[in-house]
Amino acid sequence: MIFRKIDFKSEDYESECALRDEVLRRPLGLSLYDEDLSGEGAQLHFGLFDSNNTLSACVIAVPVSAHEVKLRQMAVQSDCQLQGLGRRILNDLEKFFEKQAVVVFSLHARLSALGFYEKSGYVVTGGEFIEVGIPHAKMIKRIAA
Ligand SMILES: CC(C)(COP(=O)(O)OP(=O)(O)OC[C@H]1O[C@@H](n2cnc3c(N)ncnc32)[C@H](O)[C@@H]1OP(=O)(O)O)[C@@H](O)C(=O)NCCC(=O)NCCS
Repeated sequence: MIFRKIDFKSEDYESECALRDEVLRRPLGLSLYDEDLSGEGAQLHFGLFDSNNTLSACVIAVPVSAHEVKLRQMAVQSDCQLQGLGRRILNDLEKFFEKQAVVVFSLHARLSALGFYEKSGYVVTGGEFIEVGIPHAKMIKRIAA
């Protein structure tokens, strides 16, 4: 698996949107393509690609400050889940940003995925709230500077 950046509006970005739609939106009866994605050009997109250059997992990082990024839209292809790819893309993303002095990673986790993030060192920092119609909690991971 190769971890690499995805350029906004590239062919890989189209694959990323298709993956996000399939894994994160359609199971909720929603469509990613109904959303305004124009602001995503200012966000950093990453993917894990297999040896056939097929996108297996994706995540987006939004710079919050010089030392913090917020992660969003983490998704692993349905038939590749629970094989370590989620942990791998999270680790690779953290390593990428640690080199740029980022020490705080935050995200809004679906409650159904809390256990996954906890296994990678994220902790819940607040109460539950609803996003895209389902319960979420804010989680954070601090890296020793
Ligand atoms: C949640 C998701 C990103 C995890 O990625 P993954 O590749 O399936 O997970 P991994 O195989 O890397 O799992 C790493 C560890 O977390 C555990 N884990 C994975 N998904 C979990 C979940 N939903 N709840 C609790 N633990 C979970 C695994 O069992 C594994 O534990 P182990 O080290 O003890 O064996 C992926 O399953 C997914 O895309 N799910 C649907 C979309 C989603 O919920 N995205 C997150 C939105 S906040």
